[in-house]
Amino acid sequence: MKRIRVGVVGAGFAGSTHIQALRRLPHIEVVALAGHSTDQARASATKLGVARSYGDYREMLRDEPLDAVHNCTPNKTHAEVTLAAIDANLHVVSEKPLGMDSEETRYLARRAASSGIVTAVCFNYRYYPLVREVKAMLANGDVGRPHLIHGSYLQDWLLLETDWNWRLEPKLGGSSRAVADIGSHWLDLVQYMTGDVVEEVVASLGTLHTHRLRPSKEAVTFASAEPAARDSVRIDTEDFGCVLLRFASGCQGVLTVSQVSAGRKNWLSFEIDARDSALSWNQETPNELWIGHRGEPNQIALRDPAAMNTAASALSGQPAGHPEGWLDTFVNLFTDFYGAVAASAANEPYCTSFATFEEAHRIARTVEAVMASSKLDAAVRVDGGK
Ligand SMILES: NC(=O)c1ccc[n+]([C@@H]2O[C@H](COP(=O)([O-])OP(=O)(O)OC[C@H]3O[C@@H](n4cnc5c(N)ncnc54)[C@H](O)[C@@H]3O)[C@@H](O)[C@H]2O)c1
Repeated sequence: MKRIRVGVVGAGFAGSTHIQALRRLPHIEVVALAGHSTDQARASATKLGVARSYGDYREMLRDEPLDAVHNCTPNKTHAEVTLAAIDANLHVVSEKPLGMDSEETRYLARRAASSGIVTAVCFNYRYYPLVREVKAMLANGDVGRPHLIHGSYLQDWLLLETDWNWRLEPKLGGSSRAVADIGSHWLDLVQYMTGDVVEEVVASLGTLHTHRLRPSKEAVTFASAEPAARDSVRIDTEDFGCVLLRFASGCQGVLTVSQVSAGRKNWLSFEIDARDSALSWNQETPNELWIGHRGEPNQIALRDPAAMNTAASALSGQPAGHPEGWLDTFVNLFTDFYGAVAASAANEPYCTSFATFEEAHRIARTVEAVMASSKLDAAVRVDGGK
């Protein structure tokens, strides 16, 4: 099989995760990495064991004979890096969100559709085996039709007014924070599993800290070193939000999203109430699925490739009782992505599961509907496809 040469742009939390996951794929080699400066890129490349580094991604695209690019930069540069990759005819995996707003995502979706390359957005939670099991159970009619979906995505890493990250600055992260950053994962996940689509939202967003103390020197995601000096900065983006959802099927939902919930680290959970049973899952305990029954004892189904649907088993690298986790979802997503790349090169049909640019555009539209609903204090329709 042809060796695939990958360049990664942005080598922070997401970039290093992508590189670690890509290392587990045969035939894939991360040949270069681009950062925001020559020194920073070189240091990251040394730490991550990547042969070549660039302080400007444009130089990397010009000088390296690449096949694909992974865009792991902060949100502000997603569109320009992804467009540069498309212009260079390179396959591209973009981190979420696809762009800063739906104007950018609409354009990116159009460009992707008219290109001959493979494009994907990194909504990695789709790639947990038990998520795929839920999708199969719903599609097979095992638990009946869903009527209510409730859940949350809760974190605590921005609880204190001294907590700081580029996501807090709208010019770097976008005008929505908690909803666009993590709520988007939940919205993608439930729509992916159910095949249903959110058509209307009613939202109330809140900001715990209307001012935060920004370190005078930029901090990286999850960095814990104490800065020497801080500036008080006004905060215009949401720390948390409550969102009512109406799906196309008539199913209703409610999502709570927060980056200021003490003790919750990466609490992405959902419960799908369907006619015959309920299905509940939490990404912090991803190897267990709770199945609720009315007239018989509830069940805990363990991730077990020997006992799951075929599509879910295919995502399990290890036997039951050998826990798999977050990093494995990236391995699964990239396996799917490079399977599509190989099929495209061979002109063969291939069925993908990753989020397309068009789906990510709809998520951007949904996030904007949530923002508008909270501002207007009214229900807002998503109007997808525009
Ligand atoms: N799918 C997921 O679960 C997941 C998890 C974390 C982050 N993300 C996404 O990944 C992106 C990056 O987030 P992060 O947490 O890694 O942030 P980060 O701050 O840890 O890393 C961003 C990196 O990009 C570099 N950078 C900035 N501008 C650049 C440029 N113009 N060219 C090259 N490099 C540049 C920074 O120096 C830094 O190393 C975000 O869009 C975020 O939404 C996704």
